[in-house]
Amino acid sequence: DDPAADPFDVARTAAAEIAAATGVDRHDVALTLGSGWGRAADLLGETVAEIPASQVTGFSASGVAGHTGSLRSIRLPDGRHALVIGARTHYYEGKGVRRVVHSVRTAAAAGATTMVLTNGAGGIRETWKPGTPVLISDHINLTADSPLEGATFIDLTDLYSRRLRDIARSIDPSLDEGVYVQFRGPQYETPAEVQMAKAVGGHIVGMSTALEAIAARQAGMEVLGFSLITNLAAGISASPLSHAEVLQAGRDAEAVIGDLLARVVEAL
Ligand code: 6GU
Repeated sequence: DDPAADPFDVARTAAAEIAAATGVDRHDVALTLGSGWGRAADLLGETVAEIPASQVTGFSASGVAGHTGSLRSIRLPDGRHALVIGARTHYYEGKGVRRVVHSVRTAAAAGATTMVLTNGAGGIRETWKPGTPVLISDHINLTADSPLEGATFIDLTDLYSRRLRDIARSIDPSLDEGVYVQFRGPQYETPAEVQMAKAVGGHIVGMSTALEAIAARQAGMEVLGFSLITNLAAGISASPLSHAEVLQAGRDAEAVIGDLLARVVEAL
């Protein structure tokens, strides 16, 4: 939180603490598991160590239900190591964008070259039933903020790697793709805001991921993004939204999407 601190130094400190606590010097792939995606952690491989995120520099235990608040080191069947981040700082918490992207920068500092970002989100396409996983093909960042500081003019073409999306679709050819629109939150959108998101080319509305993906690209990582459609966005469906319903949709879909994600990571 010290504005004079270099966020990349803080991330290196956190990565060194994770290496010390897990005994794993290098994590090859990192996953941030959002609402509904938690089950994947148990299916990926053998857990080497699990540490409370609050014990690692820069992380805070997420107060949001649906997040475990831990960091887990998992040995994949082929010997690679995955770092599973079950503690996401959301932009709407108001702690600043550095906090939001700290986990991504820590993953990069821990050696990860692939960043898998997942979330629970609202769907704009009526055909997406709650429980549908969707590949993120691109994003629109409506937070009016950025994790980049100063004259950091990075290119975001193919931010959500086509190569990785193709691998995901080789596991499940029925996967749809969509453009993710990150709103600040924490309130859900008005029906008019959802119509705006649709009009500008969006298909999915949420409160995370875009800022993290930008930081991942800055760090040189290849990004794969998944949304679990937990509900239709406001005005697309007639019924009002509730966080409880979002969490229930996540629990209902958990086994299926956990298995999907584990198979995709194995193929990366
Ligand atoms: Cl409808 N909007 C946003 N921003 N986030 C969500 C959501 C909707 N449903 C689940 N998460």
